[in-house]
Amino acid sequence: MELLALLFLSFCFLTLSGRTFAAESETPVARVTVREDDDVILPCSLDTNENIESMLFDWVKEVPRKEVFMYRNRSHYNNGLPGQDVEFKGRVSHYPEELKYGNASIRLKQTRLEDKGTYTCIFPEIKPSEKIFRIELVVGAGPKPYVTILKENGLLECEVPGASPKPTVEWWDSDNKTLPSKTVQDKEEQGRFHVIVQTTVTEPGCYRCVATQMEKWHRISSEICVHRGAGPKPYVTILKENGLLECEVPGASPKPTVEWWDSDNKTLPSKTVQDEEQQGRFHVIVQTTVTEPGCYRCVATQMEKWHRISSEICVHREKTAQPPSGLPEWAAALIGGFIVVVFVVAVGVVLKIKGYSLKKDLQRMENGPSSELERNLTSEQP
Ligand SMILES: *[C@@H]1O[C@H](CO)[C@@H](O)[C@H](O)[C@H]1NC(C)=O
Repeated sequence: MELLALLFLSFCFLTLSGRTFAAESETPVARVTVREDDDVILPCSLDTNENIESMLFDWVKEVPRKEVFMYRNRSHYNNGLPGQDVEFKGRVSHYPEELKYGNASIRLKQTRLEDKGTYTCIFPEIKPSEKIFRIELVVGAGPKPYVTILKENGLLECEVPGASPKPTVEWWDSDNKTLPSKTVQDKEEQGRFHVIVQTTVTEPGCYRCVATQMEKWHRISSEICVHRGAGPKPYVTILKENGLLECEVPGASPKPTVEWWDSDNKTLPSKTVQDEEQQGRFHVIVQTTVTEPGCYRCVATQMEKWHRISSEICVHREKTAQPPSGLPEWAAALIGGFIVVVFVVAVGVVLKIKGYSLKKDLQRMENGPSSELERNLTSEQP
């Protein structure tokens, strides 16, 4: 049960955010950052917005020079025009609908570390002079940090599996403040850095693992929210036959509100018989007395109704003739039957004796008064 709840909570929020920075440092060089394996658009657009459908433009990667994508009057590398470097075969596309607006941007699929470098977008036939746009592509192998809740007591782990260049990995709270953390792994394999950083949080809330590369220039983070509703399921028992129910929540954090509810979800009057804190966990015992048979629930609520877990118990009306404990039912029945027989016999015997004495009494009554009457009658006779 606890594990299930934990799993559920671990899944709550796992949002990943990646950012692509495009900053113009010196015209017309633009810098585009992409995460390895992601697609990227290399922008190139004429400010004049003139239609370039029947024009020529060429995308080239520099040093060493490689043909990336050429478009010449509706012919291009994807429809038969020869000359594309094998490295880019099947990985580059343009936006035919955008050509009308002077947009010669291309999309590069599944970027690799080797794709990094400077790209130029050239319009050689534009008058009065050719137009050149420069794009610096940075492929950061900045894999999404993978964040998990390791332990319910708030141990969070962040793994950055294979980043390049070397990332700074930090845990931030929701105010973007860096939390004290411990780097438990930091190794390099073929130019990629594998980093694992752990932190312990004491408060529920949302935390981010932030991997920063290239001096804040490329930053990627993963968020995880700790609800710490790893509240154990309340344990409910019938303490006494007269309807004393007990609910125990053994070690919840944050502090739970523990209530007894009837089947209409109405809170019953109850008594907190234990409310202890041990190492940040609350051990609560709450009792209630019920007078009616029925099903009752003990509800432990944490984090303002965000996390609620309950256990139900049903109280049956007490049986009038409970078989003696420890005896099987057939034995009880046998004994019961025997008792009935004895009782019947006893009653019979009593009745018989009573009947006999009754008869005697009747006889006496018959004889007594009548003889007296007779006597009286005889005495009154003149
Ligand atoms: C050019 O087209 C691409 C792809 O549709 C788009 O992302 C980009 O914003 C366009 N550029 C301009 C300047 O419209």
